[in-house]
Amino acid sequence: MSKYLLAIDQGTTSSRAILFDTKGNIVQSAQQEFPQIYPQNGWVEHDPEDLWSSTLEVCQQALKDIDVNEVIGLGVTNQRETTLVWDARTGKTVYNAIVWQDRRTADYCRGLQHDGLEAMVSYKTGLLLDPYFSGTKVRWILNNVDGAREAAEQGHLRFGTVDSYLLWRLTDGKRHATDATNASRTLLFNIQEQCWDNQLLNLFGIPESMLPEVLNSADDFGETAEHWFGKSLPIGGMAGDQHAAMFGQACFEPGMIKSTYGTGCFMMVNTGDEQLKSRNKLLSTVAYRLDGKPVFALEGSIFMAGATIQWLRDGAGFIEKASDSVALAEKTGKDQSVYMVPAFTGLGAPYWNADARGAIVGMTRDTGPAEIVTAGLQAIGYQTRDLVEAMKRDGVTNLKGLRVDGGMVVNEWAVQFLADILQVPVDRPMITETTALGVAFFAGLQLGVYKDIDEIRGIWTQEKEFAPSLSDETVERLYSGWLKAVKGVRTITE
Ligand code: G3P
Repeated sequence: MSKYLLAIDQGTTSSRAILFDTKGNIVQSAQQEFPQIYPQNGWVEHDPEDLWSSTLEVCQQALKDIDVNEVIGLGVTNQRETTLVWDARTGKTVYNAIVWQDRRTADYCRGLQHDGLEAMVSYKTGLLLDPYFSGTKVRWILNNVDGAREAAEQGHLRFGTVDSYLLWRLTDGKRHATDATNASRTLLFNIQEQCWDNQLLNLFGIPESMLPEVLNSADDFGETAEHWFGKSLPIGGMAGDQHAAMFGQACFEPGMIKSTYGTGCFMMVNTGDEQLKSRNKLLSTVAYRLDGKPVFALEGSIFMAGATIQWLRDGAGFIEKASDSVALAEKTGKDQSVYMVPAFTGLGAPYWNADARGAIVGMTRDTGPAEIVTAGLQAIGYQTRDLVEAMKRDGVTNLKGLRVDGGMVVNEWAVQFLADILQVPVDRPMITETTALGVAFFAGLQLGVYKDIDEIRGIWTQEKEFAPSLSDETVERLYSGWLKAVKGVRTITE
């Protein structure tokens, strides 16, 4: 009897594979880090072979001692926007994977903004003209790799985000496809019409023959070649990691929010079948697509969440391990006037200020590491509130609580402060590996394990609810202090 679903989660710093049972419990998992390549200031690349070999190895480890006949199928979720181009004749990539964090196309993006093109691009894609997204990275490869443009024009080259590349490898080159969520991060996909957009392809000079077929997030993505796992397995799900996390959190109704706290934080609110156009620099994106029907979301990202705690530990040396932050924050208390703006790498949504830099303000003679560590944890809450405020200003009125996941949510003090500063209950699920779980759910839907999303809704289980505990007056005073601190940072850099 088949009873397992395998989820591949190919991330920015590591590849993971998790084997779930059909109730969403983790049976076995494996993880492998791989090198980051920084060829120049602001450039970030991955070796495609590292992405592939680490993925293959973690899958093989997650399937160790398991009868592969008991595996129903698999799903792939991935770091989004990261761009690969390969030659269909040889399967060889023509350049390293250009990672989402890479800024090499910043000048080109500024030029397009200067030419007044952002409104059109944003209208069609829901995104901003920023190097973050794949389109300008594909263009860079075609313009800078010898012979690439010619080969692309002759129809030999293929473009893919990491999902498509892994699919190509898993199927031995038989399938070149992606799903609508990954497509929606490329700057080439018209999210209203749900198709590649010719005007955008012309703008970036990308031949249509390079593009993958766009499928639903639960769909027939083909089968793995028999030799990888001893048996060919159907691939039934695919989604960008934040979208998969949204699905794994069962955020199926408009107004439901998920926030994933890793190095940074990615927050998404379900906006249903309505594609909201943000006036506050949030992104409009496809949350997921089932049976040809897209469900939309607004997304905001913060660059420094868990990375702030990492800095308090490794940069400032105020704590020895991340969990030490809790005792210091308990000692300090929430109602304190020291603020830390962790703009170490600029500010993300809703400010999008790449030049802003970090600051600690409000210090007095009795300020010490405890207050600064507390301020670091609080900054995560304040930044999350900035995103929620931007969502409200964009017309999301029916916000329904917040579901959190990611490595940092083990920090109960930080999660409680989130509930306090947002003044909404914050739910932590039983399984916090929601990214992998989400894509296992997509695969399970496609492969007949689950009848519909109602069945999945029933599987999601809350582990703990954090209820707001501060008075309105305290919350507003604390948050207005934060806004002044951020403003100060922006004034310095502007
Ligand atoms: O948009 C980038 C995001 O998908 C990366 O996620 O978890 O690999 O850092 P992660």
